[in-house]
Amino acid sequence: MERYGLIGRKLGHSFSREHFTKLFKQEKLKGHRYDLFELAAIGELPALLRDTAGLRGLNVTIPYKEAVIPFLDELDPLAAAVGAVNTIAVHGGRAKGYNTDVAGFRALILPVAGQLSDPGSAIRPRALVLGSGGASRAVAYVLRELGIRFRIVSRSRQRGDLTWDLIDPTVLRVCRLVVNTTPLGMYPDVAEAPPLPYAALTAKHVLIDLVYNPGETMFLKHGAEHGARTIGGIGMLKAQADEAWRIWHQAP
Ligand SMILES: NC(=O)c1ccc[n+]([C@@H]2O[C@H](COP(=O)([O-])OP(=O)(O)OC[C@H]3O[C@@H](n4cnc5c(N)ncnc54)[C@H](OP(=O)(O)O)[C@@H]3O)[C@@H](O)[C@H]2O)c1
Repeated sequence: MERYGLIGRKLGHSFSREHFTKLFKQEKLKGHRYDLFELAAIGELPALLRDTAGLRGLNVTIPYKEAVIPFLDELDPLAAAVGAVNTIAVHGGRAKGYNTDVAGFRALILPVAGQLSDPGSAIRPRALVLGSGGASRAVAYVLRELGIRFRIVSRSRQRGDLTWDLIDPTVLRVCRLVVNTTPLGMYPDVAEAPPLPYAALTAKHVLIDLVYNPGETMFLKHGAEHGARTIGGIGMLKAQADEAWRIWHQAP
């Protein structure tokens, strides 16, 4: 039996389980299983690794993407640079951490990156990244890679560059890209949206929401109302899952 799964604190409906269970069926992979492992604390991980026979890989979700790092035997250089792990490969009893949110976010942004500055302009595009958690770190890594200047918006002065009260229409006007990495608007709280002066958005703006359920969040709806281009999180989810599958099957 080859076993895979997702670790997190509270796991209700899971895209990952649905995705991999469908994949096992499609590829006729008998003896493959994907389970949800709810951990009340990340300190429960070593026992899970020890006691789950046939475990080959895990995905990691809220709130353990950073907290999991000290519990791993090895860290892939990309995950170390990002500072967050969302995928674990298990080989010969050793657990190695990876970050596939980077590949996932690249899949979302690359098709629109060229739209973030005016044709012929030498001015580097600017972005706002809403939230400072694990996914925010992966987004920041990709934006640095693309030369997009960004500010992290956080509830806390210590974790971000700007607090929410500082996002006025002028700030929003100059930041053509806004990436939501907070859970605001995620099912079941679908009426919520990051508190922004949305009226400052224009057709030159691109709004990306990492939230994938619902497909069109209130954040994206507000963006679309003002003519912005909007992109939901489902494409990232699929891309990061494909990357995890590739990692689980590469040589250690
Ligand atoms: N589409 C995909 O493939 C994909 C991949 C990864 C994550 N995601 C989604 O992205 C979201 C974040 O995931 P994550 O793993 O980064 O979670 P996380 O580590 O918990 O980070 C979320 C961050 O959002 C901010 N936040 C949380 N609650 C907030 C609130 N009520 N108001 C304002 N800000 C709030 C916090 O930043 P501050 O404390 O600095 O305010 C927090 O650090 C989730 O909805 C997740 O489903 C999607």
